[in-house]
Amino acid sequence: MKPDILVLGSVNMDLVFQTPRMPAPGETLMGESFHQIHGGKGANQAVAAARMGGRVHLVACVGDDDFGRRSLSSLAQDGIDTQFVRQVKACTTGVAGILLDAHGENSIVLAAGANAHLDQNDIDRAASLLTDAKILVCQLETPIESVSYAIKLAHDAGVKVLLNPAPMQKLNDDLLALVDFLVLNETEAQQLTGLAVDSQAQAFEAGLALRKRGVGVVIITLGSSGIVLVTENHRESLPAYRVEVVDTTAAGDTFVGSLAVALGEGLELNAACDLAQRAAALAVTQLGAQTSIPHRETVERHFHKL
Ligand code: ATP
Ligand code: RIB
Repeated sequence: MKPDILVLGSVNMDLVFQTPRMPAPGETLMGESFHQIHGGKGANQAVAAARMGGRVHLVACVGDDDFGRRSLSSLAQDGIDTQFVRQVKACTTGVAGILLDAHGENSIVLAAGANAHLDQNDIDRAASLLTDAKILVCQLETPIESVSYAIKLAHDAGVKVLLNPAPMQKLNDDLLALVDFLVLNETEAQQLTGLAVDSQAQAFEAGLALRKRGVGVVIITLGSSGIVLVTENHRESLPAYRVEVVDTTAAGDTFVGSLAVALGEGLELNAACDLAQRAAALAVTQLGAQTSIPHRETVERHFHKL
């Protein structure tokens, strides 16, 4: 049975410039290539969940423009239910300007556009889908008030909540206590706890601090160093798979969307994280956000060879 995953979040068009190095302030630099690639943390996580085999519903806002129409059609091609993606009149779709250097490092600037309009009415319209879902997946590229509202609805209905607090915003402990799975990278863990997170040992400390604030399971992603996970009874680190890095954009999103499906299928936590790390490792071998997210068959075929 395909698990029902409800993703609440952003939709962006990524404008990607490949450049030999990052420009210095005030400098103009000749880039190497330019691409328009579908992105946005919400949409990326929805795509990752759909390609991993989930039945995915997306609650989001796009603009009344070409980027918005192209995003809707691309999401539909992935089999994602977009009936609750609202086209906001006289508004642009979210855009991410991405500089990608020769080492696969990126710098991103966002213009939220329609993502800033996602409100409680959008969630109310999808309420019956939300309360019937296996897992609610959220990030923070949409207003925190709407994210908090959806998390409360899900929690009250007994739906598991997976929050990826990216980009970080102020989160209070009342909200953290409703989160079953918190997936965040080192920088976000540092921002949320105020602790340094430069090593695995420090990541464990941050995980424990977040557990004390009420989170169920904390998963801190450490890029090529894998993840640490902290639960009520245990803490563990799992290494990443070794791959050749082309572009890490959406590695975290691929991890989150894949993890939601694996958990929704009832896999135990370590096995679910392992599947998510396999998918995320493949994502970093390709350019772009949604262009890089693998299908489940590809993940299984690739790692079968190991
Ligand atoms: P992004 O914002 O670029 O989407 P992130 O900062 O949220 O990513 P990361 O911690 O960089 O998240 O990566 C998420 C997961 O993706 C890692 O835990 C790991 O499983 C996988 N991953 C990322 N980078 C690499 C890499 N270089 N090699 C193998 N796996 C990687
Ligand atoms: O996580 C990657 C995403 O962050 C990109 O697709 C970009 O749109 C930004 O939102």
